[in-house]
Amino acid sequence: MTTRTRILTGITTTGTPHLGNYAGAIRPAILASQDANADSFYFLADYHALIKCDDPQRIQRSRMEIAATWLAGGLDVNRVTFYRQSDIPEIPELTWLLTCVAAKGLLNRAHAYKASVDKNVESGEDPDAGISMGLYSYPVLMAADILMFNAHKVPVGRDQIQHVEMARDIGQRFNHLFGNGKEFFTMPEALIEESVATLPGLDGRKMSKSYDNTIPLFTSAKDMKDAISRIVTDSRAPGEAKDPDNSHLFTLFQAFASKAQEQEFRAELLQGLGWGEAKNRLFQLLDSQLSEPRERYHQLMSRPSDMEDLLLIGAKKARAVAAPFLAELREAVGLRSFVNQAAAPVAAKKKAAKAARFVSFREDDGSFRFRLLSAEGEQLLLSRNFADGKTAGAVTKQLQNGDALDVRTEATGFSVWLDGAAVADSADFADETSRDAAIAALRVALTPIED
Ligand code: TRP
Repeated sequence: MTTRTRILTGITTTGTPHLGNYAGAIRPAILASQDANADSFYFLADYHALIKCDDPQRIQRSRMEIAATWLAGGLDVNRVTFYRQSDIPEIPELTWLLTCVAAKGLLNRAHAYKASVDKNVESGEDPDAGISMGLYSYPVLMAADILMFNAHKVPVGRDQIQHVEMARDIGQRFNHLFGNGKEFFTMPEALIEESVATLPGLDGRKMSKSYDNTIPLFTSAKDMKDAISRIVTDSRAPGEAKDPDNSHLFTLFQAFASKAQEQEFRAELLQGLGWGEAKNRLFQLLDSQLSEPRERYHQLMSRPSDMEDLLLIGAKKARAVAAPFLAELREAVGLRSFVNQAAAPVAAKKKAAKAARFVSFREDDGSFRFRLLSAEGEQLLLSRNFADGKTAGAVTKQLQNGDALDVRTEATGFSVWLDGAAVADSADFADETSRDAAIAALRVALTPIED
């Protein structure tokens, strides 16, 4: 059986997606999810959004807009697991388990946090001014997002590579501390799509909300047209040859055009196509590809309960993976039920195998005895009779104190001696080999467990 590559990425829900987000992240992710070998987990990182934004209206609007954008863009929710981070209670729970193994020194080095500190220091403020614990622990939450689902590949922007490395670091430490030889967490790798160029914005710098140079994606055809009309060009007049390779208008066109369309446009620019007409061509191209998803987007936004349903189904799928895995992790760190301890899984096995127990009982004649049972419940020893419970108890204590056992064989059985007297006997075995095996098992059972 070939295992599919698990691809996971989160989208922080603070803004409204623009054309640059679409071409740089959304479109390639949707395409990647169509690969038969991909098992994709895409989610709205709305807990992360709370770190940067305390405007509930904006958080809510952005969650809906981003969900609608991905769905309108063709994300097939039957193929991928699409969910809201905040619908998965296992994520904050895992975050805490990871917080307890994450080195503070590691988090001190996180770029996002360091940048805020540097800014404070520069402006003569207290280094910690305005820095929340959310910002500081942001990489741990992100590690939980990734490790919870054992993602192999994490498509992210360059600014996020460090966070994926931290996830590896933290996951490795957890594996080492609690895995007992088992690797709970898969080591994730950042996936940087070299082929998708970041789109230039209206002014030629990277398209970004912080530069206020974006082209809107699905708001309306008119908004898109207006933005395109504001693309900065050189001052060459119609009829003068344009230089496609030094025009970000051409770069934008390229990002959506077929090879043939691209070549035609290039030739036209070289032949002196006016910038006004060139902008028209760009609008036509974008509109031909985006008008249908734009319509779907507005439909989705007008029926939020449909989206709610889809996302709750996604959450259910995600939790079907997360809940049993988290149960295993809780066991591993020692957050276990007080009952059924023998059923404790994997990590506890080695110790449980050794954990034999004494069961005392009283005979009809009033004397006290005990049995020593293996972890599997099979009888290893039956004691002689003691006049009172106190003596019987003292004997069981002495047997567990780690001293070398005085075992004496008699034919196919054996007895255990303390201070010159036999205190307990084995069953009678079929042969000497099984008798000796039982003696070995007894010694193991009575070896004190080291922590
Ligand atoms: N921090 C990421 C960003 O700002 C978003 C994110 C949150 C994420 N959790 C993630 C990305 C897990 C990949 C995997 O872009």
